[in-house]
Amino acid sequence: MLLTAKPFVEYKIQELKDKVSKLKTKPVLALIRVGNDPASVKYVSNKIKRCNEVGIESQVYELSEDVKQIEIVKLIDELNNDSKITGILLQLPLPEHLDEHYLTNQICPYKDVDGFTIWNTGSLSLGANCNVACTPKGIIDLMKYYNIEMRSKDVVIVNASNIVGKPLVQLFLKEGATPTICNSKTKNLKDKVKSADIVVLGTGNMNFMSADDFSEDTVIIDVSINFDENGKMRGDVVKEDYDKLIEKGCDITPVPGGVGQCTVIALLENTIDIHIKMNND
Ligand code: GUN
Repeated sequence: MLLTAKPFVEYKIQELKDKVSKLKTKPVLALIRVGNDPASVKYVSNKIKRCNEVGIESQVYELSEDVKQIEIVKLIDELNNDSKITGILLQLPLPEHLDEHYLTNQICPYKDVDGFTIWNTGSLSLGANCNVACTPKGIIDLMKYYNIEMRSKDVVIVNASNIVGKPLVQLFLKEGATPTICNSKTKNLKDKVKSADIVVLGTGNMNFMSADDFSEDTVIIDVSINFDENGKMRGDVVKEDYDKLIEKGCDITPVPGGVGQCTVIALLENTIDIHIKMNND
């Protein structure tokens, strides 16, 4: 079947709206965007739209492409010390002259809604309570919504990034699965994918895999967002093969309409949970 995000998103939006309506004060999310990378502009505006929908206040800081590192450090410091601010998000990627790791780690760990700081990534790998990166959290929540069994399953993740692949390994371990992390150049990748129960694809290569690359009954999570020559959004899996995959008993997250929307839901949930923890609300 197609693992569409729509029913999951509708259910979660209602749940989060209800949760926010019971709070004494409104959660506030600060979003920092540097430059005008078109994908980042779109992602941040989606995040703001969804914040409004559930009653989270958003504050956007749009900084110029050539902003100095110290100015971002100062801004994050102010936001860290402002008790009205619940969470801080620094949209990635950043322009070349800025140090992504250094700046991300200026965010106070408990306000780190993305779970990208050393504190939160370290806590995740120790199995401790922490803020969890939104795309991996969104993937696991969507799979749970569709009652997909993870325990004892062989999972192949074709993405080794800090944002997706690495934290996702930790979440699959927590669910009792056996994850293997790969990249698009991994030796014998096709054999690994063929033998997996669950495959997560995030290579950024449009049409990287087709129906013949998967065994029957595989669960396929397509994280990639690519654009074809007509500007249409595509994943790593050939879209024309979805029907063939479903005939083979596979489940697949469509692009668009899959993982992307679940990432934003996870961000809203992280923000609300931080607010509740901070304010005993
Ligand atoms: N860039 C791509 N995905 C993300 C994300 O989940 N958070 C942030 N901050 N930047 C991103």
